[in-house]
Amino acid sequence: MSRYRPRNGARPVRSSLLIVRWLTSGESHGPCLLAIVDGFPAGIPLTEDDLAVDLARRQMGYGRGGRMKIEKDRAEITSGVTQGLTTGGPIGLRVENLDWPNWRDKVVAPFTKPRPGHADLAGFFKYGHEDMRIVLERASARETTMRVAVGAIARQLLSQFGMAIHSQVLRIGRVATDGGDLSDPAIVNAVEASTVRVADPAVEAAMRAAIDEARSLHDTLGGTIEVIAFGAVPGLGSHVQWDRKLDGILAQAFMSIHAIKAVAIGDGFSVGERYGTDAHDGMRFDDGAIVRLTNRAGGLEGGISNGEPIVVRAVKKPISTTAKPQPSVDLATGEDSPSQYERSDVCAVPAAGVVGEAMMAIVLADAFMGKFGGDNLAEIRPRVSTYVRDLRYWRPGPALAAGI
Ligand SMILES: Cc1cc2nc3c(=O)[nH]c(=O)nc-3n(C[C@H](O)[C@H](O)[C@H](O)COP(=O)(O)O)c2cc1C
Repeated sequence: MSRYRPRNGARPVRSSLLIVRWLTSGESHGPCLLAIVDGFPAGIPLTEDDLAVDLARRQMGYGRGGRMKIEKDRAEITSGVTQGLTTGGPIGLRVENLDWPNWRDKVVAPFTKPRPGHADLAGFFKYGHEDMRIVLERASARETTMRVAVGAIARQLLSQFGMAIHSQVLRIGRVATDGGDLSDPAIVNAVEASTVRVADPAVEAAMRAAIDEARSLHDTLGGTIEVIAFGAVPGLGSHVQWDRKLDGILAQAFMSIHAIKAVAIGDGFSVGERYGTDAHDGMRFDDGAIVRLTNRAGGLEGGISNGEPIVVRAVKKPISTTAKPQPSVDLATGEDSPSQYERSDVCAVPAAGVVGEAMMAIVLADAFMGKFGGDNLAEIRPRVSTYVRDLRYWRPGPALAAGI
């Protein structure tokens, strides 16, 4: 007899970014943005309205520029869904750029004065485009539209198993907050109603004032977001190999979001200042289940989910395109020149939170599929329920218990 308890629910496969695959294409002012999404099982309820909810959330936020007033993002599902359910085949997504007719026949002067903090100059070095508009069109965070659409599919899968992902803003410029308890639906509702994605109206007012001040100075602001996934089972990710560690995969996913420059799991930004006894999460038994006294580790230990909420915080740098010119050069003249200004956001931290939710959802959906596998929901559901039933000392939340 093996001394290991069978884990009938889980497939003995790797859990890393391999099952769910996706690519985006499209330029910021081109006709449309596209995504192909592969690896989701059949049977997930999915409509264009499901995607529209998150796409609209990404467009909001105090401090956005004129572009978001032009676009009314809506993703068309071009394949992989029949009668409101995923088929198991690749899902095609298409979002039209409503700004395209304004650009199609426009004669635009070459963009030759790179903006510090953008891909402009590095893209010129790499691809040789002396008109750096060709670089900026693809480097633009307009691409995050498709991330959010793909993330909405991932959310649909995760929600079948009791998982929910929320975000809030913790800092804009010098205005900081500890944030609210996102496990409380009233706090989540307040965040969703806020123009800067904070629950506290006094903090919202201070952040809006900071954005107004930056705008009046012809400058921009960054800040910090927090994204939390509730209801993840223990055992997603793995400690056994560097590329299967869920903290590492999440860090890469968040760092890939435009302008994100630092990523922390749980209290990662501040644990370096503390004693060890103030940095970790003690345990105790509660009616037969192990509960944690705190969640400083952000739900991940050894690169594996430990059953606590998974917490990622990330710092977004201030918007690089500033109305106040920055020192730069002109590739056309070979002379020093102030950087070129393009229509731009003053602050996009709240939108970055919504993009972060999408990246969290995609990573967790992949880790979930890596662990449980299955080609349709009906096949996956009993695997999850067997796994959770056999898991000693862990109590699933009510949403997961209801979902299996
Ligand atoms: C939601 C969102 C909106 C953004 N909007 C702008 C913008 O309007 N103007 C701008 O200069 N940068 C904006 N950015 C950031 C740039 O896309 C980003 O700084 C640039 O592509 C260079 O990439 P890097 O900062 O990751 O190196 C935005 C980022 C996000 C996440």
